Amino acid sequence: MTISASKCLSAAVGIGGAPLRVPFLDLHAHHAAFVNEFTSAIREVIECSAFAGGPFVERFEQEFAAYCDSRYAIGVGNGTDALWLALLALGIGQDDEVITVPNTFVATAEAIMLCKAQPVFVDVDERTFTLDPTELEKCVTAKTKAIIPVHLFGQPADMGPILQFANAHDLFVVEDAAQAHGALYNGRKTGTLGDAGCFSFYPGKNLGAFGEAGAVVTNDAELAKKVRVLRDHGQSRKYHHALRGWNCRMDGIQAAVLSVKLRHLEQASLLRRRCASLYNEAFADTDDVSTPVEADYARHVYHIYAIRVRERDEVRRFLEANGIGCGIHYPIPIHLQEAWRNGYVEGAFPIAENLAKELLSLPMFPELTEEQIEYVVNCVREATGLGVLA
Ligand SMILES: Cc1ncc(COP(=O)(O)O)c(C=O)c1O
Repeated sequence: MTISASKCLSAAVGIGGAPLRVPFLDLHAHHAAFVNEFTSAIREVIECSAFAGGPFVERFEQEFAAYCDSRYAIGVGNGTDALWLALLALGIGQDDEVITVPNTFVATAEAIMLCKAQPVFVDVDERTFTLDPTELEKCVTAKTKAIIPVHLFGQPADMGPILQFANAHDLFVVEDAAQAHGALYNGRKTGTLGDAGCFSFYPGKNLGAFGEAGAVVTNDAELAKKVRVLRDHGQSRKYHHALRGWNCRMDGIQAAVLSVKLRHLEQASLLRRRCASLYNEAFADTDDVSTPVEADYARHVYHIYAIRVRERDEVRRFLEANGIGCGIHYPIPIHLQEAWRNGYVEGAFPIAENLAKELLSLPMFPELTEEQIEYVVNCVREATGLGVLA
């Protein structure tokens, strides 16, 4: 394949004849319609001076729990805190092992390490990119205490067999749902299937704050209570420290913004799904570009839309030279990262390692226009030697 650095399509021009540019993510477009709602929500927080924890956080917790069909939601500082506190509250500690996948954001492993436990990796399913339940038997030991399946890119992991395995081996299941707000596994919201579900509200997430925020959801009253205490310096009441905790509180402005955005999340998910189906259709005639699969059990919410292509880095360069923002999630699996190798060698998890070489994340956000999608598709087709669509 030869890829020229020439501009992709002379016809692809925007307003005033300028070349079309497609950002990877356009938060400005996503927020534009709700500016008045954000302004009045933030003004309310200022008027109440309820900046750290408080009524806006409590309201958002109730709304998010209801959205997830969960009994409890506990707002925390970010998604990493959510994972860490959920594990800590479940009693994961020194010398315990927690099974997870190597093709995730490093925070999944960091949370395990913060509990002084050891991450143990398993390979993923080739089609869904999520934890392969048939791999679990190979790595379970007497020290294994929990499994963290990651609902990567908005695709739920295959929770049925994972929960079955966990029950058989007396393990906790903590879902990393940082990328999967509103995704469904057999009709149930991700985050509510295991003992706890952990969400990130990092600004670029499907439900994103105006800064850092996260949440733990659970149906277990004791667990919810423990996470609440841990996130606030272990205080059961002011200056009475029942547990050794940390400051992982959510702030009031983030909660108020998230309450606004939650009202629009379902519509945003539908728009993401429509963008994904337009991309899928446009590559349906070729095997040179593999599009994401939606598992039979799943409602995918496409936090990331990643295609699989050989010569991925050249395709990426071509797209970027043509004004298209792309991402790679993730270029190095955690077990091969300098800080995390811990005895793992290349080849340990061949599927995750191949995904790291071949996945290319295309622009994906609810406001992506058909014109932008067509331009991205045609640039990918040109870069991979396929015919440009009429
Ligand atoms: C899969 C996954 N887990 C955990 C996190 C951590 O969330 P945060 O950045 O809010 O700490 C992220 C965020 O990027 C993520 O994508």
